[in-house]
Formats: sequence, C-alpha cells, structure tokens
Amino acid sequence: MSLVGEAGLRQLCQSRQIFRCSHTCLKGLLGQVRSSDRHRIVTAQALQMVTAPSPEAPGQREAAAKKRVVFVVGGPGSGKGTQCDLISRDFSVPFFSAGELIRSLIASGCAEGKQLQDIILQGHIIPSEVTVGLLQKAMAETSSDTVLIDGFPRNTENRTVWQSQVGYDCEMVLLFDCPEEVMLQRLKHRRDGRADDNEDTIRKRVQNFKSQMAPVLDYYQSIGKVTTINTDRPVEDIYSELNSIWRQRFVPTSP
Ligand code: ADP
Ligand code: C5P
Ligand code: MG
Repeated sequence: MSLVGEAGLRQLCQSRQIFRCSHTCLKGLLGQVRSSDRHRIVTAQALQMVTAPSPEAPGQREAAAKKRVVFVVGGPGSGKGTQCDLISRDFSVPFFSAGELIRSLIASGCAEGKQLQDIILQGHIIPSEVTVGLLQKAMAETSSDTVLIDGFPRNTENRTVWQSQVGYDCEMVLLFDCPEEVMLQRLKHRRDGRADDNEDTIRKRVQNFKSQMAPVLDYYQSIGKVTTINTDRPVEDIYSELNSIWRQRFVPTSP
C-alpha cells in the first residue's frame, strides 16, 4: 500500500472537515503543515476536485432528490453491465457503473490513483465518500428523472454514506443471482483487459460480495425493495424478464 494506505485514505475521506475544504483553504493550509500531513491534504484536494461538490452546495442535493434510482447489484460477472446496457438502450435510461466511474477516476491520473488501484486489486471496496461523490456528480449531469446504478451499494458503508450524502434512498434494488462458478468462468473469459479480472482477485471479490452484501440485502429485503433475477441463463432470457419488470414498474400505461 502506498503513502497514505487504505486505512489512511478511508480516515481521510471520512474527515469531512478536510474533505470539504475549499481549494483556497487547502492552498493556505499547505503552507502551515508538516510534509506527511501535506500529502494527506493534497490527496484530499485531488479527491475533492474529481468528485462532487459538497452535498450542501446549492442545487446539488435538490438535483439528486429529483431522481428515481434503481440499484443493480450482484456478484462480479453476474451480468449487471450487460443487462444495464440493454435497459439503457431500450428505455433511454442513463446508467452509471460505480466500478467504471472509479476506473475513470484512476485513469484520469489523480494523486490517489495508485492507492485506489491497490484496493481494487485486493478485491476491497474503496471509501464510500469517493464513490458516492462520483455518482452524485454523474447524476447531476443528466436531466433524466430515472437512473440505473450498477455495482452500488457494495457494503453497508456505501449504503449509509449514500443516505447521508444524497439524502434519499433508492426506489428499487435489482439483485442478480448467479452461482459463483458461473461468474468465475464468465470473468475468466471477459476481454475488457481489467487488472482485477484474475482468478485470485475474482475469488476475493466474490467472497467480499457475499459477506458484505448480506446485511445490505437484509436491510432492503426488510423494506420490500428487492427484486431478485436468476442470471444463470442466456442473456436474452434474463433480459426478457428484466424488460417486463421495467415496463411494469417504470413505463406508465396509457389511459
Ligand atoms: P458484471 O457487470 O456483473 O460484472 P458483465 O455484464 O460485465 O458482468 O458480464 C461478465 C461477462 O460475462 C462478460 O464477458 C459478458 O459478456 C458475459 N455475460 C454476461 N451475461 C451473460 C450471460 N447471461 N451468459 C453468458 N455470459 C454472459
Ligand atoms: O462493479 P465492478 O466489477 O466494475 O467493480 C470493480 C471494483 O471496483 C470492485 O471490485 C471494487 O474494488 C471497486 N468498487 C468499489 N465500490 C463500488 C463499486 C466498485 O470499491 N461501489
Ligand atoms: Mg460490471
């Protein structure tokens, strides 16, 4: 783990005072701190520049509050991206993949990219403030009142930070249910060139999905928000069911 480390990065992101400091404020602070602290502040500054403005910023919370959000969750390789593409194409619904947004952030060359990449390669979940910030920013840039979010939440922290930062919950959780060995086989053959699509990391991702999602799913099940879809089937069969769920729930019937 480089410089700050996963625990440090998490602590840093959770330190709202630093995370939400303005650019000018950070510049001022840089002149007064020790070099180790300076690195932390530079990292926080980079995070702030690439993620959303403070949720308290005028308009930010309101813009997010207008949307009906559908979370699509399931183990790695369960087919989330494939099915979200189809829904997005047929119903003109914007779809944001949490994993894709994180990979784009790393590819942008931000200061904390190495740390984030290390977390991903260990199959762990990155600090929720970063992911929620990326999602808020993406949502603020679309005028659609309905959005699909793929790969979020991944753990209880993701869920609670979403609640506190965005201020409202999702409309529905689509859970893609697929056996581990099927997911593993699919990912071994995926040709996206992802560094985390190696057997060792895939196994860790699957284990983390099982253990960390259990309380999240319990919570959403307890409030009746989960719809489970068996995704150990051909793409077209899954999509036929999903399309029908989507129509019933989100496409208004004509009078
Ligand atoms: P996720 O986003 O859940 O990780 P993807 O949609 O990227 O999963 O799918 C993982 C891999 O499996 C991709 O190579 C994709 O083409 C393939 N795939 C997706 N759905 C199916 C399916 N129903 N049957 C067989 N292969 C699939
Ligand atoms: O969903 P996807 O497979 O693209 O996610 C890739 C990786 O991105 C995850 O294994 C995890 O390390 C990271 N991620 C995260 N938090 C999320 C979604 C993805 O940390 N909510
Ligand atoms: Mg995906």
